[in-house]
Amino acid sequence: MHNFQYKKSELYAEDVPVRKIVEKYGTPLYIYSYTTLVRHYKAFENAFNGSPHIICFALKANSNAAILKTLAKEGCGADVVSGGELFLAMKAGIPANKTVYAGVGKTGEEIRYALKSGILMFNIESADELRTINKIAGESGVRAPIAFRVNPNINASTHPYISTGLKKHKFGIPMEHAIENYRLARKMPNINIIGIHCHIGSQITKISPFVEAVKKVLLLADKLKTHGIKIKYLDIGGGLGITYGNEVSPHPADIAKKIIPVIKDDHFTLILEPGRSIVGNAGILVTKVLYLKKSHKKEFVIVDAGMNDLIRPSLYEAYHHILPARKNRRAEILADVVGPICESGDFFARERKLNAPARGDLLAVMSAGAYGFSMSSNYNGRLRSAEILVKGCEYFVIRERETWKDLVRGEKIPGFLR
Ligand code: LLP
Repeated sequence: MHNFQYKKSELYAEDVPVRKIVEKYGTPLYIYSYTTLVRHYKAFENAFNGSPHIICFALKANSNAAILKTLAKEGCGADVVSGGELFLAMKAGIPANKTVYAGVGKTGEEIRYALKSGILMFNIESADELRTINKIAGESGVRAPIAFRVNPNINASTHPYISTGLKKHKFGIPMEHAIENYRLARKMPNINIIGIHCHIGSQITKISPFVEAVKKVLLLADKLKTHGIKIKYLDIGGGLGITYGNEVSPHPADIAKKIIPVIKDDHFTLILEPGRSIVGNAGILVTKVLYLKKSHKKEFVIVDAGMNDLIRPSLYEAYHHILPARKNRRAEILADVVGPICESGDFFARERKLNAPARGDLLAVMSAGAYGFSMSSNYNGRLRSAEILVKGCEYFVIRERETWKDLVRGEKIPGFLR
């Protein structure tokens, strides 16, 4: 469910016509619904209410300060994968002691920063990383709280680029090496073992892979117990899918219903790291039709947003609904909706049925709140878009549109070229 709906023939973001916001701030434009965002967060919170848990929003999905602040105010934790994300999370008021830190390539500097900040735990992805964290913690005079990210080898049947839980992936340590790594960690003076982490993939639309993962993680926790290693936090990652086209994803409550009984032992605190399912359908990307063209019987709708604004269709052939900001009764055409970037892969839709758009029409690329702006770039000298947060009938700029000055920010010309 989201709050981008038609009233008569006009698309609204909550109680504001999308067209009205665009008139003020131009295109391409990311628009988020505050109400949707909060509802999605609360869906997780309520689903797991009653058993100890922390919802750690995955910043990689969207790290705009106002989005983070919204979630922080609801009591959210964070899942970060860099020092930069940790900085953003804390700046927005997400407590470090509700923040988990994953990623295969944490640098020494980042580890020091995370230790100093007092994060809840490092989700460690290799024995090399463990040794490094132990050493740095020793130098800093603290004990580092850790979990290992284990790879449960579960096929989450999602797009290969966003599936992460198989043996061939670079993430985590193989389940069969988990015990030896935990035993190694136990011997280290500056390591405090507190958890197990896994994340099996993204855009998962079934419950069973989550249940399977939890079962495997619990089995490991049991084995660790026999080695005298006690686990408190079971971090089962993110990955719950959303509706982009006609897929139906489980509600967080459906997952909780299946998982909580499996866990039984309430001395575990469950950690979840949802990203997409909280923010994905809370955002849209609005773009303007620049030109229409026909070549070799193929129709192209050329819009002013490009793959630099939303790369998901190009990178994963991801499907996003495209809706007109104002419905029209023109005949349907079959067209590719493409951006202005000099790449054949710069498209939002291929062979899509649309009521023939006209130049100047506004189109909304739906479900763009997650991995939209956060993956955007300046490719082709393009400015990153503005972002707007709508709450009821009010709307707020939460990021200014970039200017050409931003394109050269930080660049320097060596003396010999001057
Ligand atoms: N935790 C870990 C350790 C992760 O690697 C991820 C996502 C998440 C949590 C959040 O997963 P979510 O709930 O959002 O599915 N750019 C791709 C998605 C990459 C996801 C990477 N990891 C896309 O646009 O589909």
